[in-house]
Amino acid sequence: MQIILVKDYQEMSQELNKQFIDQIKLKPESVLGFTTGGTPKGMAKHFAQEINNGLDVSEVTIVNLDEYVCEPETSVFSVYNWMMTHVFEPIHQDFKAFHILKGNANKQEELTRFKKVLEDNPRDIQMLGLGTNAHIGANEPGTPFDQELFVADSHESTIQAVINLFGISKEEAPTQMFTMGFKEIMEAKKVVLAASGKSKAQAVKAILEEEIDVSIPASILKTHHNFVFIIDDEAASLLDN
Ligand code: PGA
Repeated sequence: MQIILVKDYQEMSQELNKQFIDQIKLKPESVLGFTTGGTPKGMAKHFAQEINNGLDVSEVTIVNLDEYVCEPETSVFSVYNWMMTHVFEPIHQDFKAFHILKGNANKQEELTRFKKVLEDNPRDIQMLGLGTNAHIGANEPGTPFDQELFVADSHESTIQAVINLFGISKEEAPTQMFTMGFKEIMEAKKVVLAASGKSKAQAVKAILEEEIDVSIPASILKTHHNFVFIIDDEAASLLDN
């Protein structure tokens, strides 16, 4: 495990972007595992800027971590809309391909389809945000560590986070999510987890100071051979050392 301590959200975004840009420079045909939400918003700005300044991404494939069970095109909170707004519209170049789970598809068929997508596109790097309860993707506390791609029921804190982030009502908020399980997350050649802000401090402390356990989903990443954990000052504020 490599821990990178940064000052704040801005520095975390730059570091996250650097991890991805370096990967593309190292291997122009990289497969990038993207995530969405508050964590990668700043990163996506730098990423778009760098690519618009001339970095060739014509051989790069993007694969997304998860998607809410929803109508992707008309739901403000969908992973599809996040990717359009923060990645595909601002970037004036086409990637080789991008793969997002279809939130309105038949669940079983979609799981089968996306498993094949993941098999055909082994990820060189997977970006992850950290839930306040230490979830990664929609692998909430209690999810078994051998979990494969599935449709997860969101915990109350996760539903609340979506309500706050998008200013939607409880009735409009999604309660289920298609998500890579721990199995597919751990299959990425490199995993980069980023945490910024006080709300993540308890989860960061649990990951680093407690034993690996399903009650702390992200703790499994400590067993990954190429795990990078980017933490800002506020997120690190409860650590003993
Ligand atoms: P955030 O969420 O990036 O919006 O903070 C991370 C998560 O809850 O998975």
